[in-house]
Formats: sequence, structure tokens, C-alpha cells
Amino acid sequence: MKVAIIGTGNMGSGLASALAGAGHEVMIGARDLVKAATLADQIGHGAVGGGIGAAATLADVIVLALPFPAAEEALKQAGDLSGKVLIDISNPISADYKELIIGHTTSAAEEIQKMAPRARVVKAFNTIFAQLLAPQARLGKTVQTFIAGDDETAKATVTGLAQAIGFEVLDAGPLSNSRFLEPIGEMNIHFGYFLGKGPVVAPAWVQL
Ligand SMILES: NC(=O)c1ccc[n+]([C@@H]2O[C@H](COP(=O)([O-])OP(=O)(O)OC[C@H]3O[C@@H](n4cnc5c(N)ncnc54)[C@H](OP(=O)(O)O)[C@@H]3O)[C@@H](O)[C@H]2O)c1
Repeated sequence: MKVAIIGTGNMGSGLASALAGAGHEVMIGARDLVKAATLADQIGHGAVGGGIGAAATLADVIVLALPFPAAEEALKQAGDLSGKVLIDISNPISADYKELIIGHTTSAAEEIQKMAPRARVVKAFNTIFAQLLAPQARLGKTVQTFIAGDDETAKATVTGLAQAIGFEVLDAGPLSNSRFLEPIGEMNIHFGYFLGKGPVVAPAWVQL
């Protein structure tokens, strides 16, 4: 599958590396073309780097690996996303990481869907620390990712991508349930960074 990763930071590089390693065609898009090209070279597996618009145009699935406040500008640069699957991984948090900046009656995912109304937005990976994206960081462990979205075909596509890099996928319902997934992401940040567990924890739903 042709997957564009927009962003070259912790999550962008981790997802690009894992997906390219699983055999997907990865295009890295960034505002800094040199960073995109350098990351693509480091990853190998045929990954290529370029601008945000070029990567999004070539791909069927686009991962926004940016801070939530950067989404609007990046989506303008991405161009026409009609029918494309747009994965929102964000936790819309304050600069000190301690608070959510939106929630209750909306979510980052729903706001991103409004910014890109023709794309099929799926929430995923927001409860996974970048340190756990590499499959070898999870060897022998089952780690869940929760996905929410309103388009079942898009969710199936994201499920396939997440499973290809070793995650157990739990369908978390419609996109509006991102209102609940984002606070879980924020709780995970508190466990990882403020409650002493380190960025190597992940939430899981247990069926008894
Ligand atoms: N880190 C985690 O463990 C984790 C876990 C779950 C979810 N998330 C979510 O994943 C997203 C990315 O997090 P991250 O940790 O990967 O962040 P990061 O390491 O700080 O990387 C952010 C990326 O966004 C780019 N960017 C920032 N502002 C931009 C703008 N206005 N236009 C275009 N690109 C812009 C940066 O580009 P430059 O290099 O040019 O500045 C960089 O490539 C966030 O929404 C975060 O909440 C993170």
C-alpha cells in the first residue's frame, strides 16, 4: 500500500520505518525537504522523501504525524484528499504535555475531519509511545491500538496496516469516540512521563 507519512519527528520516523519494513511503499512528506529525504535514506526499503503535497498526492493512506495545531496548515498543503484514508494519531495537548487542549464535545480527530471533509479520517496509534512503534520493541508482548472512524472500509485498511507492524487492533467505534481515546492518550503520557513508568507503557482493554 502507498502510505504517506507527514512529519519526520518521533512518530513520523517510527511509523515510516515500521511500515516500510513491513513492505509498504512509504513516502515521507515534510515542510523541510532535506529532513524528509534524509529520513527516507535512513529508512531504506524504497522509502522516498519530499514535500507534503507530493507525498499526499502519491499515497492512498496519509498519516498526519504532526502536533495537532500544525494539522490545518499541513492539510492545506496536502491538497485534494478525496476518498483517501487520513490517519490522525494526535493527542491535542498543552505545551507542558499535562492537559488536553480540546475535548468533551469534540476531538482532534473530528476537527481534522472538518478540515479535510472529503478524506476518510481514522483515529489510531494515539495511545502508543513512539518508543514502541518498532516491532522489535514489543517482541513477545501484545500491544493494542484503538481505532475509531466512520468509514468501515477505511478502518479495515488501517487495521491491516497496524496488524502488519504487529499491533492488536481494537475497533473503538465511530470517529466521535476519539473524544474518549484522546484522554486515554493523555493518561498514557502521565503514566509514561509524570508517574514514573517511562514511555514504554500502553493501555489495553481486557475482555473477561
Ligand atoms: N511522541 C509520542 O510518543 C506520541 C505518541 C502518540 C501520539 N503522538 C502524537 O503524534 C504527533 C507527532 O508527535 P511527535 O512526537 O512525532 O512530534 P515531534 O517529534 O515533535 O515531530 C513533529 C513533526 O511535526 C512537524 N511540524 C511541526 N509543526 C509543523 C508545521 N506547522 N507544519 C509542518 N510540519 C510541522 C515537525 O517538523 P520540523 O522538524 O520541521 O519541526 C516534525 O516533523 C503529535 O500529534 C502527538 O500528539 C505522539
